[in-house]
Amino acid sequence: MTANKSLLLLPGDGIGPEVMAQVVRVCDWLAAKRSIAFDLTEDLVGGCAYDAHGKPLADATLKTARKVDAVLLGAVGGPQYDQLDFAVRPEAGLLALRKERGLFANLRPAMVFPALADASTLKREVVEGLDIMIVRELTGGVYFGEPRGIFPLDDGQEKGVNTQAYTTSEIRRVAEVAFDLARKRAGRVCSVEKANVMESGRLWRKVVTATHAAGFTDVGLSHMYADNCAMQLVRDPKQFDVIVTDNLFGDMLSDEAAMLTGSLGMLPSASLGAGDETGRRPALYEPVHGSAPDIAGQGIANPIAMILSFAMCLRYSFGLGEEADLVEGAVARVLDRGIRTGDIMAEGCTRVGTGGMGDAILAELDLAVA
Ligand code: IPM
Ligand code: MG
Repeated sequence: MTANKSLLLLPGDGIGPEVMAQVVRVCDWLAAKRSIAFDLTEDLVGGCAYDAHGKPLADATLKTARKVDAVLLGAVGGPQYDQLDFAVRPEAGLLALRKERGLFANLRPAMVFPALADASTLKREVVEGLDIMIVRELTGGVYFGEPRGIFPLDDGQEKGVNTQAYTTSEIRRVAEVAFDLARKRAGRVCSVEKANVMESGRLWRKVVTATHAAGFTDVGLSHMYADNCAMQLVRDPKQFDVIVTDNLFGDMLSDEAAMLTGSLGMLPSASLGAGDETGRRPALYEPVHGSAPDIAGQGIANPIAMILSFAMCLRYSFGLGEEADLVEGAVARVLDRGIRTGDIMAEGCTRVGTGGMGDAILAELDLAVA
């Protein structure tokens, strides 16, 4: 038995609890079949935390998050919380976790499983074999910049203000993550900003260029304006390997990239902080999809993004690359066999619910080690 790995599970709102339940089954499988035990703690985040505590992230929850090896999060939000103040909205719980844990690098892979190439709204030849990694800066930029607020003007109007700001070190550290990742992939980084109109973009380009020159000249570097990148992603997405960009552009481009793959229900993400002396780094793993309140509670949500987020956790937080491969391989084979949740359903395939997809993945895992 290896030492137990501690995980904080924050299923959150909407479909979060349903998809998280399938991850717990995969944890149990790893304990039973691979002798990898996890200490699981479960807590609230988002709207359900607001209902229980009057805020979307209780202090005690944050305290637990600081102690564990990694946090797994389902999804936050729902229409019943739309009228709340920003500070207590479900999303604020997620943003606080990212900021408090210093999770500055958000890794959002967008890959097309061979079996799903026809699920994309783009032509098969445009997306087949697609494998992009978007590295989104997650604790800076317009999401957190000051000043921010809605301010009264003398003439009776109001003015809404947000600030896009980046420092040299904030840009450098996320660029380093992108270059490091590119080394283990196809070796190309495309840095994305709007240096043609924004000072923060000019600094972004300057620092990324300097970071590259200082230690990553073995990696290819190109630069692209964000609007062009949005266009290139639908024109010829396979030109990209790693894309590194700021918080807001990364938010939008990662949704766009995710949809190239056919369904938001497929895409995992990892949010990583800086490592300490022992190499331990704060980490949070969550699917890119949201809480999908329209289908919550029906047992039909696709749990694959959540399960693949757990696979990223195995790989990046626990160094369990072999187990991550097992999980990812099981997902790919389930798709090859034509097992589908509603969001990726196609003619001639077998439609299953959330639990049915979990069953199928566990069955493939069993076969893989039999
Ligand atoms: C995401 C989401 C969040 C964001 C929301 C829920 C605050 O869209 O993780 O991409 O904007 O970062
Ligand atoms: Mg988003």
